[in-house]
Amino acid sequence: MDLPTRTGPDPAPVRPAPDPGPSAAPAVSARRLVKTYGSGEAAVRALDGVDVDFAAGAFTAIMGPSGSGKSTLMHCLAGLDTVTSGSVLLGGTELTGLSDKRLTRLRRDRVGFVFQSFNLLPTLTAEQNILLPLDIAGRRVDRARFEGVVATVGLADRLSHRPAQLSGGQQQRVAVARALVARPEVVFADEPTGNLDSRSGAEVLGFLRESVRTLGQTIVMVTHDPVAASYADRVVFLRDGAFVDELSGPTAESVLDRLKRLES
Ligand SMILES: Nc1ncnc2c1ncn2[C@@H]1O[C@H](COP(=O)(O)OP(=O)(O)O)[C@@H](O)[C@H]1O
Ligand SMILES: [Mg+2]
Repeated sequence: MDLPTRTGPDPAPVRPAPDPGPSAAPAVSARRLVKTYGSGEAAVRALDGVDVDFAAGAFTAIMGPSGSGKSTLMHCLAGLDTVTSGSVLLGGTELTGLSDKRLTRLRRDRVGFVFQSFNLLPTLTAEQNILLPLDIAGRRVDRARFEGVVATVGLADRLSHRPAQLSGGQQQRVAVARALVARPEVVFADEPTGNLDSRSGAEVLGFLRESVRTLGQTIVMVTHDPVAASYADRVVFLRDGAFVDELSGPTAESVLDRLKRLES
C-alpha cells in the first residue's frame, strides 16, 4: 500500500521537548528493597520489599506508623546505609554494591541532607555554615546560586550571625540552605521540623516547598506529622516495611485519614 503523499504547508518546526512530565525518569527509586538489622532470633526486617519511585522536581513525603521503616528507607535511598537485598537507583546510579569510598563521594557531591537536629558548627557564621560542604569538597562557590538559595530561605539579613544568635527556625533554614547550595540531585530530610514549634516549622516547610517551585529541587522528606506532609506534592505511606499507599495533593485531613486507616 502506498503511503499518502503529504500536501500543503510544511509542518511546524519541531518544538523543544516540553517540561518532563510524570513519565520522566524518577530522581530516586527503590526496587524489592529489603533491609534486615541483626541476625538470627534478633533479626528485624525493617524493609520488606519496597518498590517506590520519587519524581524529579517534586516534594515527596514518606509517612507511616512509628517503626514502619521510614528512616531506614531514607537512609538506604541516600546511601547512608547499606541494603540487604534489592536495588536503589539515584539519578541512574545503582547504589547497591558501591564501595564505601564511592558512596561517601556520592553523598558529598549529589545529595543534600536536613536532619531533625540542625547540626550547625557553633563557631561559624550562617554563611560559613552554608558554604562549609563546598569548602570541604574543594568546590567553587557559585555566588548566584548562593544568593538565590539564601533569598529562597529568607536568610539574607542573618548571614553574619552565629547559630546561638539565631532562632531554631532560622538555624534549620541555614541547614536547608547548606543542603541546597551545592545543587544536589535530591535533598533528603528526616523529620526536619521535629525540633521546631509549629510556626517555625511552617516557615521551614514553606521554604522547602519554595525551593521545589523556584529551584526545581527534588525533596524526599520523612515525617510523622500530617501538617508537615501536607506541604508535599505527594505522600507515600509505609506499613511494616512495605509501600502500601500514596496520596497526591495531600491535605492534613486527607493524610490523617489515610494514617488512621493504616493504623487500624
Ligand atoms: N540500627 C538498628 N538496629 C536494629 N533495629 C533497627 C535499627 N534501626 C531501626 N531498627 C528497627 O527497624 C524498624 C524500622 O525502624 P525505622 O526505620 O526507624 O522506623 P520509622 O522511622 O518509621 O519509625 C523498627 O522495628 C526499628 O526498631
Ligand atoms: Mg524514624
